[in-house]
Parts: sequence; C-alpha cells; structure tokens
Amino acid sequence: MPGLTIGDTVPNIQADSTHGKISLYDYIDGSWAIIFSHPGDFTPVCTTELGMIAAQAEEFAQRGVKLIGLSCDDVQSHTDWIKDIEAYNNGKKVTYPILADPKGELIKELNMVDPDEKDSSGRAVPSRALHIIGPDKKVKLSFLYPASTGRNMEEVMRVLESLQKAAKHKVCTPVNWKPGEACVIPPNVTNDQAKQMFPQGFETLDLPSKKGYLRFAAV
Ligand code: BEZ
Repeated sequence: MPGLTIGDTVPNIQADSTHGKISLYDYIDGSWAIIFSHPGDFTPVCTTELGMIAAQAEEFAQRGVKLIGLSCDDVQSHTDWIKDIEAYNNGKKVTYPILADPKGELIKELNMVDPDEKDSSGRAVPSRALHIIGPDKKVKLSFLYPASTGRNMEEVMRVLESLQKAAKHKVCTPVNWKPGEACVIPPNVTNDQAKQMFPQGFETLDLPSKKGYLRFAAV
C-alpha cells in the first residue's frame, strides 16, 4: 500500500487534540492546511521544530494556512511538552493544535510512519512527515524526513508560496525560486495563451534547440 501521497484527498480524520476533539475537514474548512508529524514529545529536535512552527504561525495564517501537529503521544503529554516548546521559544505560544494518535492509527492512514524508528515497546513512530493540503482537500506536496534531520521551515514557507502562486496564476517556479522572482510558463501554455495571461509580456530564452520552451514571466 503506497499510502497517502501527492494528488490524494486527505481522509477526514477525527482525533483528540490539544484543542479538544478535531474533525479534520471542519478544522480545514476550505483553507490551505499543513499537517506535520514528529517522532515523539520531549525530544530535542522536535522541540526546535515545533517552536519554529509556532514562531511562523502568524505568517502561515496570513497566507490562509491552518497548521496541525501530530504524534503518537497523548493529549496530556502534548500539553505538558508545549510548556517546554514555549519556554525554548522565548514564550512564543503554540497556537496550533497537536493531535494525539496513541494507537498509531492516524500515522498509518496519513502515510507518516518511519520504518526505521520504533518506540520502547517496538511500535511504529512517525517520521518527520509533512503534507501541504489545498483548499480542495488534496495533498499538494509531501515529504518525509528521518528522525535525525530537522525540517527547514523556511523551505516549507517557500514551497507553500510556490504552490499558492501556481494555483493562482497557473505558473511554475524554477530551481531555487524565491517569492518575488520570475516564474516559468508551463509547457502546456501556447505563446498565444501566454500573451493573454501575461499582458505585461514574457521572456523566451534562445536555446540551441530553438524550441522556445523556457519562458519566464513576472507575476
Ligand atoms: C529528536 O527530536 O531529537 C529525536 C526524536 C526521535 C529520535 C531521534 C531524535
């Protein structure tokens, strides 16, 4: 079973959380969402990651994104651990819910299991997985990092901006793109369509093949 991946509709999971019972579809409510798992509470790398996500929560909210954490610990553990995350993070509050998955069912459903990590009783634990969900409830981007490697939240923000740019303007973003830089016109857009889409103009690179497929536009 490949499990939840890009293009799939996220299941409407129901779970206890630090914000009470959560029904995922009600919580997302037509917004973008980022659901991210961590291997376990009271662990060092996870503390730095969830602290950084708390620090960026307002920036995600400005982009219309709901955040949801998840691990196999219970709600009481999450609630106790949040005090450490906030203290580490200079008092910045963890305002997003963290779901409890003590039976390890949600992490399977959401394709977040780390095959190489087990808890002390030999049970599967989550990887550092992250799914970006679009307003249509479909997975737009996924990644799974091992427990040893903390995620780069600046990269998460960058790819979110790329996804939102692509959804709004029907463009792609090239290698190492950053917000504000030129975007790429997708290959399935003809030059006539591109003239309509980008009345301010676009640049076609002159490459040896003369195929004219590498086109940049500012949007
Ligand atoms: C950590 O967050 O530091 C961590 C968690 C599980 C395994 C290894 C590291």
